[in-house]
Amino acid sequence: MRHSTLRRWQALLLVSAVTSILGQEPPPADINHTPRPANINTPSAAAIAGSKQDPAAYERGTKMFATYCAGCHGASGRGGPGAPDLIRSLLVLDDEKGILIAPVIREGRPDKGMPRLGLSEGQISDIVAWLHVQTYSAGHRTTYLFKDVVTGDPKKGETYFKTTGGCSSCHSATGDLAGIASKYDPFALQARWLQPRNARRTGNNRASASDTTDKMKPTVTVTLPSGQSFSGTLDRIDDFTVSLRDDHNQFHSFTRDGDSPKVVVHDPLSAHTQLLRKYTDADIHNVTAYLVTLK
Ligand code: HEC
Ligand code: HEC
Repeated sequence: MRHSTLRRWQALLLVSAVTSILGQEPPPADINHTPRPANINTPSAAAIAGSKQDPAAYERGTKMFATYCAGCHGASGRGGPGAPDLIRSLLVLDDEKGILIAPVIREGRPDKGMPRLGLSEGQISDIVAWLHVQTYSAGHRTTYLFKDVVTGDPKKGETYFKTTGGCSSCHSATGDLAGIASKYDPFALQARWLQPRNARRTGNNRASASDTTDKMKPTVTVTLPSGQSFSGTLDRIDDFTVSLRDDHNQFHSFTRDGDSPKVVVHDPLSAHTQLLRKYTDADIHNVTAYLVTLK
């Protein structure tokens, strides 16, 4: 068992608890035009009501966020060294009732520095309530939600899809994405393509099996110190174990200890995660406008 990851973030929590007391939270990159209200940490009762969150859940969430999240994401959730701004996160803005946020908190993204914290579902939903009040109070959620998501230019979206965005290396408008606009309303459709795995998976950290074509499934190669290696479809991975199913449908499970055995995951969906850092606002709206035409 490895505890070093845990210790590292506990230390981080301490450090940034201290820095936030000193008021030295670093300013996040300004990717949005909305001016920042001064009192982000204390939304008015009206903001809590307007955000439609339960005030008691919000209260509890305030404490939970300060204890478990502020150390990395900053006291006001606006980001810290190495951890993103959650108040401007599209995943947070797109969220309804925790469907996108809860899996991230529940599972963490251990390979990317977001730990799995082992919180209960109740604690998670309180934190989600807190985040929704914050985004509402900052004005992002209202401007974002009530803006028609289909304001883009479908022609430009199509060009982006076929060239710049590289979407057509994995998808086709007449193949896997044919009729996608009849399956989801524009808002859901946008959430799907911005965060496909989170939008689809709501449960545990098992790689999904049923609703994914083989080409889309994450694969993994595990190399033992002896040099023997196993490859196949990823079944499950966390800090302590990794398991896979090989081409002969044989199941293999390995205990992990630090960097041994060597584990290399290839996740086709990581294209989406990486693209998410590249899209401009205009790209997002253009691509959604294009996808909406795929009836
Ligand atoms: C040890 C530092 C650390 C702690 C503690 C932590 N996070 Fe994170 N979190 C991160 C990092 C780093 C990322 C970015 C991961 C990535 O690049 O995908 C992240 C990503 C996220 C995201 C996804 C944002 C997006 O736009 O994709 C959410 C939501 C989130 N964290 C919420 C929380 C909440 C809520 C808590 C407290 C329960 C928390 N985090 C605790 C480091 C942390
Ligand atoms: C490297 C491959 C890859 C690239 C590049 C890629 N995607 Fe995806 N995409 C995936 C995978 C894998 C899924 C998950 C499929 C699933 O849920 O079964 C997915 C899911 C989606 C979905 C949701 C489909 C559904 O039925 O819910 C949409 C929409 C989508 N992608 C659009 C795009 C767009 C738009 C781009 C370009 C900006 C893009 N993708 C780039 C691999 C890719």
